[in-house]
Amino acid sequence: MVKETTLSLNNLIQPLFLVDGNQIKETISSLPVAKRFSLDMMLVEIQECINLGIVNFILFPSIPEAKKDKIASYSYSEDNFYLQAANTIKAQFGAAIILISDVAMDPYNIDGHDGYVEDGKILNDVTLPILNKMAIAQAEAGFDILGPSDMMDGRIGSIRERLDTHGFSDTSIMSYTAKYCSALYGPFRDALDSAPKAGDKKTYQMDPANKREALFEAQLDDIEGADFLMVKPALHYLDIIHVLKEKFTKPIAAYHVSGECAMLCAAVQNGWLNYQHVMPETLMCLRRAGVDALITYFAKEYALFQANKPSEWI
Ligand code: PBG
Repeated sequence: MVKETTLSLNNLIQPLFLVDGNQIKETISSLPVAKRFSLDMMLVEIQECINLGIVNFILFPSIPEAKKDKIASYSYSEDNFYLQAANTIKAQFGAAIILISDVAMDPYNIDGHDGYVEDGKILNDVTLPILNKMAIAQAEAGFDILGPSDMMDGRIGSIRERLDTHGFSDTSIMSYTAKYCSALYGPFRDALDSAPKAGDKKTYQMDPANKREALFEAQLDDIEGADFLMVKPALHYLDIIHVLKEKFTKPIAAYHVSGECAMLCAAVQNGWLNYQHVMPETLMCLRRAGVDALITYFAKEYALFQANKPSEWI
């Protein structure tokens, strides 16, 4: 009667890693709850999720090194297996699912950065046209929501305008608004082999010491046309989630990232924490802090837990 917060399966977004090939379902050692799927196996996984009530998915491609270059040209190339896969997934499931894509150069960039690199510097304004092309290619492939995760300045306005002028005014933008330069992305970079080859992401991702800057980033994204404002990572940044929820009217998303998930998995594997208690508590606390749309590697696991079915990774 007095419970203040509820967590619905509709709030949850399941990340899925895609690899080129057939019959592939590989485990990722630093992220035991997640897997890399080839398209055929991913279609099965998506159907299983739908059966459990999980209908929102964010996809990430693992790109072979040979396809990477300085301008991430494979990201908008006609033969891109990731874009083709999105097309097939949408053709099969249509409006029964929401398909989200990351927009950033890092999976396709030979330098491993989210932006264009010249002489060791990440060039903001040179990156924007590349992101625009990537966004159009993803919208054409059928993605419902684009998630610019690159943290370049001005990219939300730039992508919004490009989408609108190309007939994609219905494609939404879930902006990675306050994306911190965090050490918690390690297992994700293992999953995609996408770590920066040199340097770090401090010149474009946010300083974990800053909160007022998150408000400034949110103001810009709000004005530039973002449909969602995202905070990432999640648990260490509950105060940021809270303040954005209070000050803005757009839906708030959060990314409960790979490192947060890995910490929990490691403690569970060691028998130090009780999975059936700590996993739902974690997701509920993120809801309580103000998250509307929660990206978490535990989305399907939470649905299994709700349905009294066994976990798939323990
Ligand atoms: C790419 C991207 C990253 C994540 C999501 N999109 C990695 C990074 O910025 O280095 C991390 C997600 C996770 O750790 O689960 N721009």
